[in-house]
Amino acid sequence: MSAKPIVEIKDIKKYFPLRSLGKKNAKFVKAVDGVSLEVYEGETLGLVGESGSGKTTLAKMVLGLLPPTENTVLIEGRDIWAGKHKKANGREVSAVFQDPASSLNPRATIYKSLERPLLINGYSKEEAREKIMDTVEKVNLRKELLDRFPNELSGGQQQRVSIARAISLMPKILVLDEPTSALDVSVQAQTLNELLRLQKELNMTYIFITHNLSVVRYMSDRICVMYGGKVMEIGKTDDVYFHCQHPYTIGLLSSVPPLHPKQRDRKKHLLSGDMPSLIDVGEGCRFCSRCKYAKEQCQTTEPPLKEMGAGHFVACHFAGEIDFDAE
Ligand SMILES: Nc1ncnc2c1ncn2[C@@H]1O[C@H](COP(=O)(O)OP(=O)(O)OP(=O)(O)O)[C@@H](O)[C@H]1O
Ligand code: SF4
Ligand SMILES: [Mg+2]
Repeated sequence: MSAKPIVEIKDIKKYFPLRSLGKKNAKFVKAVDGVSLEVYEGETLGLVGESGSGKTTLAKMVLGLLPPTENTVLIEGRDIWAGKHKKANGREVSAVFQDPASSLNPRATIYKSLERPLLINGYSKEEAREKIMDTVEKVNLRKELLDRFPNELSGGQQQRVSIARAISLMPKILVLDEPTSALDVSVQAQTLNELLRLQKELNMTYIFITHNLSVVRYMSDRICVMYGGKVMEIGKTDDVYFHCQHPYTIGLLSSVPPLHPKQRDRKKHLLSGDMPSLIDVGEGCRFCSRCKYAKEQCQTTEPPLKEMGAGHFVACHFAGEIDFDAE
């Protein structure tokens, strides 16, 4: 991992309009509401947070699939959303999504599914064949599967095809959005290890999205915790995992068994309630309605991200002051 940012996200926002209300009364779902972060070359940044916290929306703006409402993403210093077409080119960033079956065309053979993006990107039929053979070898997919249709493959094999397709254009950045959660437990670990091997071999940078906090710890160099379209805490994996300072992070971690007995008793921090609506968001801290440490200030003033240690940022007014071990 280098200290060079390959992705720079600058105060990015994505607001989805609620169509049912008409233009005059327009209201918005503030899915991502001012996220700034950097992803460094060769690292894996894990993105965690409950359902609806804005992880996929953020990833899609990095992938060039969803234009931001405000601000932008730089990849290697280049603004991918600059220019009137507002369309990023997909060669630098690729993605693997959760459900391999739905991301493959059921009527195309595996070979055709792998060939298509190469042809679109200017490869000849012959060059595409060579590339496909090379890529399926990299992901350990048996060549005889190339003539089959997706429904003739196991979930693990389908996900290998998705990974092969994602890496065939040699992207520098791979977004992995819950890549193993639809797989059998027995193939999950194998797929994760293969992703780690490929990352080293091909020198890729990963943005790894998951609900599984044990998986994110295994895979990531740094962890970014999102809630309600905002970053709550970001830092090196061990800092976030073992020395978290945000009440939301400790709540999330409470669902994971502690790794050693000395670790904080996290059970008492289990999250209750649901994430509030992202439509009429108040002025204060997004986590306010569920936070047992909330004070008056939290209702009215949004906490900025403060650096609490080298590269460890926390968005809480009382970061560093809360004693999570006290009752
Ligand atoms: N196309 C859309 N139109 C309107 N609202 C959307 C759209 N896409 C996402 N949202 C809303 O934006 C918020 C963030 O969604 P997003 O899919 O980014 O969350 P997520 O963190 O990826 O959740 P999950 O863990 O369930 O995948 C949610 O409230 C969602 O309903
Ligand atoms: S700012 Fe207040 S409400 Fe938000 S996490 Fe910190 S203590 Fe809780
Ligand atoms: Mg998602």
